[in-house]
Amino acid sequence: PPPTGRGADDKQRQLDAERVSADGAYLTTQQGVRVDHTDDSLTVGERGPTLLEDFHAREKITHFDHERIPERVVHARGAGAYGYFQPYDGSLGEYTAAEFLTDPSLRTPVFVRFSTVAGSRGSADTVRDVRGFATKFYTRQGNYDLVGNNMPVFFIHDGIKFPDFVHAVKPEPHNEIPQAQSAHDTLWDFVSLQPETMHMMMWLMSDRALPRSYRMMQGFGVHTFRLVDGDGRGTFVKFHWKPVLGTHSLVWDECQKVAGKDPDYNRRDLWDAIEAGQFPEWELGVQLVPESAEFDFDFDLLDATKIIPEEEVPVRPVGKLVLNQNPDNFFAETEQVAFHTANVVPGIDFTNDPLLQARNFSYLDTQLIRLGGPNFAQIPVNRPVAPVTNDQRDGYHQSRIHRGRTSYTKNSLGGGCPMTAGADQGAFRHYQEKVEGHKIRARSESFKDYYSQATLFWNSMSPWERQHIIAAFRFELGKVETVEVRERAVAQINHVDHDLAVQVAEGIGVPPPSSEVRPNHGRSSPALSQANAVTGRL
Ligand code: HEM
Repeated sequence: PPPTGRGADDKQRQLDAERVSADGAYLTTQQGVRVDHTDDSLTVGERGPTLLEDFHAREKITHFDHERIPERVVHARGAGAYGYFQPYDGSLGEYTAAEFLTDPSLRTPVFVRFSTVAGSRGSADTVRDVRGFATKFYTRQGNYDLVGNNMPVFFIHDGIKFPDFVHAVKPEPHNEIPQAQSAHDTLWDFVSLQPETMHMMMWLMSDRALPRSYRMMQGFGVHTFRLVDGDGRGTFVKFHWKPVLGTHSLVWDECQKVAGKDPDYNRRDLWDAIEAGQFPEWELGVQLVPESAEFDFDFDLLDATKIIPEEEVPVRPVGKLVLNQNPDNFFAETEQVAFHTANVVPGIDFTNDPLLQARNFSYLDTQLIRLGGPNFAQIPVNRPVAPVTNDQRDGYHQSRIHRGRTSYTKNSLGGGCPMTAGADQGAFRHYQEKVEGHKIRARSESFKDYYSQATLFWNSMSPWERQHIIAAFRFELGKVETVEVRERAVAQINHVDHDLAVQVAEGIGVPPPSSEVRPNHGRSSPALSQANAVTGRL
């Protein structure tokens, strides 16, 4: 059934006004002039040259010539759907002023886009890769985007390294080989020289990198964010999506065969399920950490290469996401949707996680070129259901007709937007965090604990999961041509687990490391060492 409940249909009503269909209509030019013939261009006689005055032929070809826009620099391949989010009860009201998280009578419309990271727009779905899980909530307080992945940590902990990482993970620049992103020298060279990648690499070598279906995939906001209540009090939060169907993976052999037989495997599965009325659902969960507990962990909450183990902070279910409508047009909706970590609403704010801070710059910046200028928020899929009124004017692809004489604040001549809201009128107020310090390029010491949680992940795996991880390392590293890179990668794995490193080394023809390295650079980690089976159950 279509969504019912307050708010659920707001976005669809807005989109309906933009939807067009040509069923049964006359063919026309862009100017609305009817066309009687579109197969032969206008020529002089049967064998003469084509005439420039054939405005229909020129317009048709010109439009075609300009149909492509740049694909996303990462996460280029994806699939999306509409749906709604509804909180279970009002209990988060104690922590956040965000209405969509606290009013159980409200169904907030959403658009979700799932993606692979490294492949190009036409690449296969069933590759070994991270998956994006990006949700745009069209809330009545403005758009909120939760731009997450299906793994709870990230490769690097500072966004300044993102261009290096992506250059290493994409096909090599001279010949654009290999398309199999996780199996090549540049990625493993980067990994072996940047040990902060090791926790994420364990996830990437696990079956988590081979989701059977987008409907059976977890999602994570990754960073520590902040919930802010109506009085400006903050609480740290990590966001989790849990699929109601459970978390399921393919095995590597299936992935390789499916990639050949049906490269659209995950995309098709999502589409077909929604068309069949089997609407996928996820539960939103939060881990909440009071500000007073900020330094109670032996890792830094600002380090995106670390999880908060569930033993220490349980995940609390707070609401449900349902996807129940496929887009009408892939390009208009799934390709043109623009997610941005800085799209927040009152009640949700950032932390100083340096990866998040870089993202808050990067998404808008890249979308300015990908979507052709500063007006892409007017594209139907991106347009908020909350009213948009401001003094921003003009620019490429401006489709609004702003009335009035003034477009500046403050003005005494009328028109424009002279009013600014206070907090009691729903204005976004930045969380008033006190910060002081020197300008430096250094992080707190625990950022250098590269291996504890990678080891924790390995220890939480069942025997067959371990076999899959060993096989994945052997497959991927076995394709690396540079022996020194293989050896350095094995040396890094040895910091995670000696037995794992020995088994990987034996499978790829490099000498096994002779001795165990004490993980964690000898730092003790009481909270983590007690935890088994933590990450596997997230
Ligand atoms: C795209 C997630 C880190 C830059 C995406 C998308 C997701 C995502 C899900 C696809 C959005 C869509 O479906 O349209 C993440 C996560 C990260 C992370 C979970 C780490 C926790 C970064 C960093 C940067 C970055 C550090 C840059 C400093 C980009 C860019 C795009 C993108 C430029 C393309 C956006 C577009 O063209 O619309 N990311 N990302 N990401 N990400 Fe990230």
